[in-house]
Amino acid sequence: MTRKPRLLQNGKLPQPTLEPRLAAEFDLHRLHDEPERAAFLTAHGHEFDAVVTSAPVGADAALIDALPNLKLIAGFGVGFDKVDRDAALKRGVRVSYTPDVLNDCVADLAFALLLDVARGLSASDRFVRRGAWLQGRFPIMTKVSGKRLGVLGFGRIGRAVAQRASGFGMQVGYSNLEPVADVPYLHQRSALELARWCDFLVVTVAGGPATRRLVDRGMLDALGPAGFLINVSRGTVVDEAALVQALVERRIAGAGLDVFEDEPRVPAALLGLDHVVLTPHIASGTAETRAAMADLVIENLRSFFSSGTLKTPVPWSPT
Ligand code: 8YV
Repeated sequence: MTRKPRLLQNGKLPQPTLEPRLAAEFDLHRLHDEPERAAFLTAHGHEFDAVVTSAPVGADAALIDALPNLKLIAGFGVGFDKVDRDAALKRGVRVSYTPDVLNDCVADLAFALLLDVARGLSASDRFVRRGAWLQGRFPIMTKVSGKRLGVLGFGRIGRAVAQRASGFGMQVGYSNLEPVADVPYLHQRSALELARWCDFLVVTVAGGPATRRLVDRGMLDALGPAGFLINVSRGTVVDEAALVQALVERRIAGAGLDVFEDEPRVPAALLGLDHVVLTPHIASGTAETRAAMADLVIENLRSFFSSGTLKTPVPWSPT
């Protein structure tokens, strides 16, 4: 291609240097600045070779269908649940994402949430700041070291979470579609058995229709009043109404949540609860990791436009 490839940017990109880098190398257009999106797509949709987007925004069927010359969707993020798979496959549109480079940071945050909710770090920080220490002691909390860690969905991020548990002398169990061959951890036959077995259930399974509301009321009751839920995956994996109810009724001990069903909206009932730690989808949000994710977006685009290959295609991407 002699002209610069034309990229349509769908939504803001979460790494501030990525957009100027893309604009310097490609012919970049920001769809989210268009006041009349549908009219713009009707008039100009045929001009675009690729979409660049972030995991929380993705590309829906209406967008894919409005771009008749679309060849690639380059995603910023490891999740691709917001890219319409059927629409992409029907059109033979390739899809790339940014796996691996964020495993450590997501696992770090899972552990930070786990430690926080069990030991009450955020709650005790609020306690000190509001002067409550002058009136009395902070409540006794829950020990982490030596406990049972359950990892729901044992992919790359799940493994990284499990590795961190060894420093805390924790037993690790996991549930996954298939047992994983080369790990010393206990494979539980079902998600429900894992929830029953563990003290801390960390959700790292990929989002999407197959895992929608996998953590339901039954799972939460299996985790029980001494169990904690940590979610760094997708809000859709958890039945949020059931979770709120379980937390309010203390049918589970607490939760550390980085993801929600309807981000950035968080259920109001959670805001006043000290046995819940809430973070605004920040698991990959470090300068180092976001820079590595941005590099991978650019590498995929370069590789696609120079040789027709992708460095990190999503598992179902056409080749
Ligand atoms: C987001 C994520 O990409 O990688 C994912 O799937 O959910 C995050 O890392 C990040 O919040 C930027 O939007």
